Amino acid sequence: MYSGDVSSLRPITLDTLRRMKVEGEKIVSLTAYDASFAAQMDAAGVEWVLVGDSLGMVVEGFESTLPVTLDTMVHHTRAVARGLRRGLLVADLPFGTCNTPEQAMQSAVRLMQDGGARMIKLEGGALQVELVAYLTARGVPVCAHIGLQPQFVHKLGGYKVQGRGAEQAATMRRDAEALVAAGADMLLLECVPATLATEITAAVPVPVIGIGAGAGVDGQVLVLYDILGISIGKRPRFSKDFLTGTGSIAAALQSYVRAVKQGEFPAAEHTF
Ligand code: KIV
Repeated sequence: MYSGDVSSLRPITLDTLRRMKVEGEKIVSLTAYDASFAAQMDAAGVEWVLVGDSLGMVVEGFESTLPVTLDTMVHHTRAVARGLRRGLLVADLPFGTCNTPEQAMQSAVRLMQDGGARMIKLEGGALQVELVAYLTARGVPVCAHIGLQPQFVHKLGGYKVQGRGAEQAATMRRDAEALVAAGADMLLLECVPATLATEITAAVPVPVIGIGAGAGVDGQVLVLYDILGISIGKRPRFSKDFLTGTGSIAAALQSYVRAVKQGEFPAAEHTF
């Protein structure tokens, strides 16, 4: 575990994360939307820094992630890139920007060339297999986001735990394996029962990051504003306010990193 001056440290790469999975060291991740927080995350030892389209809700105040545009994602990714020296910078493909492999490639190129992202995250299960194969064959590292996919909120009828019941669980297992076989470099599981998330993590060779997916995954991600207790509305059950009681943003980030590394977060109360 690292905390402090990042100037002498080697940047985190996909290889670093793969090695961490093999060695059983938990990967720590947070969302970031600007340079100053990105620098704080580097100093705290956050390894995977995601410019999530959650910025539509926590930064822009929309009620879902759907209104987020590619231009907005590029703008925030660029800002985070300026503050980040060590963490691996990942950016979300927002709603409606990856309907075909060609469109997805153009969107990914913007996030990587103009924004400085080193990996792209996209939502969708089996539906995205072709797209993942297309992107990864052309040099775009991909994290496939399955389980609860917030861009599908209107189809799902709300933000609900996914993969409950034998049939849904089997579909998610199959989707995970198909995405990895197509070339996905990482998986993100959101709001998935812990037993299913643990099974998927054991079944795939790539690092698996969880949010509301229990402690049996390879790493954890949370929305920055949730862990600082400043998101509008109710904090999700799977998250935790790390600022209260720690006294500063730097201390809150360190406390989160320590809790994930030591397996203290997520606890049973954050798990489905
Ligand atoms: O946009 C986002 O913040 C996400 C979360 C699951 C981390 O995708």
